[in-house]
Amino acid sequence: MAKAPVNVTVTGAAGQIGYALLFRIASGQLLGADTPVKLRLLEIPQAVKAAEGTAMELDDCAFPLLAGIDIFDDARKAFDGVNVALLVGARPRTKGMERGDLLEANGGIFGPQGEAINAGAADDVRVLVVGNPANTNALIAQAHAPDVPAERFTAMTRLDHNRALSQLAAKLNVTVSDIKKMTIWGNHSATQYPDIFHAEVNGRNAAEAVNDEAWLRDTFIPTVAKRGAAIIEARGASSAASAANAAIDHVYDWVNGTPEGDWTSVALPSDGSYGVPEGLISSFPAVSRNGSWQIVQGLEINEFSRERIDASVRELEEERDAVRKLGLIK
Ligand code: NAD
Ligand code: LMR
Repeated sequence: MAKAPVNVTVTGAAGQIGYALLFRIASGQLLGADTPVKLRLLEIPQAVKAAEGTAMELDDCAFPLLAGIDIFDDARKAFDGVNVALLVGARPRTKGMERGDLLEANGGIFGPQGEAINAGAADDVRVLVVGNPANTNALIAQAHAPDVPAERFTAMTRLDHNRALSQLAAKLNVTVSDIKKMTIWGNHSATQYPDIFHAEVNGRNAAEAVNDEAWLRDTFIPTVAKRGAAIIEARGASSAASAANAAIDHVYDWVNGTPEGDWTSVALPSDGSYGVPEGLISSFPAVSRNGSWQIVQGLEINEFSRERIDASVRELEEERDAVRKLGLIK
């Protein structure tokens, strides 16, 4: 029997990432080649017309798996019955805006979206926040959805993970599929820590294969952590196709499971693992089993890694404290 369509809500659907993402979702790459999808697009009123244009193009692709497209400017309607929520639309930082202003503006988006998810989402809802500051936006949305299990709220560090794979593969002159067990810890920001101490290259420890602490410290870590800014500098706009690709990877693995013998990186609510305060949405090494993320346990954290994980987690705590002060979370 044919599967029932899965409701996928995408916010910021008329934006750059939306344009790179929607066609891949509709073609079956988000959930698998046997799963029909219904797209529910959320935009601000001024961008609804542009979203309608994208919907016309989606129609023109005649995707066999696309079971329908609805467009909304009302979060309650957009998240009604949602199974997979991709929260991409966010308020970008503009000139003269302080960090607090950015957090407050995004609180005005992600608080109500969390409430709408709480009110109308399907029981199996999975949420991925892409819009920046992604970890803290996810925390705000999660705080407004008390009836949804907290672990269903995740933020995206898969792009950072993929960037780390590419940089390491280039250094060692191998392909990305030769590398397993890469980890991004902490915040999706310049403080993130890409960790190769547990990574394996064709079965060999990656840090040993690199055997160059100066490269690790002065080249690899800053290149991965500042890649988003480098793309903005080069392209004049933030990463879009690679961000959409990472969102596809994240949800596909969440739903279908991560391969045996490997893991990926996911920002999810901490259960206190690795000394990350409970509840903070921080990036961890994670596997997906039976449709749920599990943090990989028992990794030994050396001093080099400890101080970098702690620094990124401190930044997440500061963001959490700032949004708490603004009354955006309790
Ligand atoms: P964009 O400006 O091209 O598009 C954003 C869209 O969101 C716009 O169409 C806007 O109208 C819409 N929007 C704004 N407020 C909304 C709301 N309340 N409800 C619904 N839609 C709303 O931006 P983009 O390039 O698509 O990037 C989107 C976000 O993703 C940005 O915050 C960006 O910084 C972030 N990003 C995150 C990662 C990551 O790895 N986590 C990577 C790249 C970009
Ligand atoms: C990225 O990592 O490419 C983006 O998060 C950068 C940004 O600030 O939009």
